[in-house]
Amino acid sequence: MNPEKPAVLFTEEVIRRRVVEMARRISSDYADVEELLLVGILRGCFIFLADLSRLLTVPRSVDFIAVSSYDRTTTSTGAVRLIMDLRTEISGRHVLIVDDIVDTGYTLQYLINALKPRGPASLKTCVFLRKRERFKMDCGIDYLGFDIPDLWVVGYGLDYANQHRTLPYVGSVKP
Ligand code: IMP
Ligand code: MG
Repeated sequence: MNPEKPAVLFTEEVIRRRVVEMARRISSDYADVEELLLVGILRGCFIFLADLSRLLTVPRSVDFIAVSSYDRTTTSTGAVRLIMDLRTEISGRHVLIVDDIVDTGYTLQYLINALKPRGPASLKTCVFLRKRERFKMDCGIDYLGFDIPDLWVVGYGLDYANQHRTLPYVGSVKP
């Protein structure tokens, strides 16, 4: 295998079809709410969120939150730190957290714990990829794109050392 070129896992077309399906379900589930607030977790979410948000048919707005990635080579405790908070109040609003991928789920659990006390009307999660075998949290994911094996994946917003984020497909690399 050429180390420069990630091996294709999901083509652009397969991704598109799945995102369309997810957007339909979300639009139908939130059909009766006044407005949905999409909260993207930077930076990996940016392409998935851009595609998903434009396919929704319900009134929606977008905000972002950033967390530090813990050093996974030295830490297994899942210490997560908030490095950029939302700009908007979420009290009384319908919030959907949008992320590119969950591995252990620690990041997502941290954000749920951080946002819940702010009193949103509802708080759900939407994640494009999940590494099923590694997922450790008991919180479910409300909207999931695909389950994947324990590989390092890149493209469609996902990076390896900040490389490959803008690939149109999802591929795997050997770190
Ligand atoms: P978790 O807290 O273990 O669930 O890790 C989640 C975060 O780690 C994701 O939001 C990504 O930023 C990053 N991550 C985990 N696995 C991958 C991968 O295969 N490719 C790119 N980023 C990943
Ligand atoms: Mg992420």
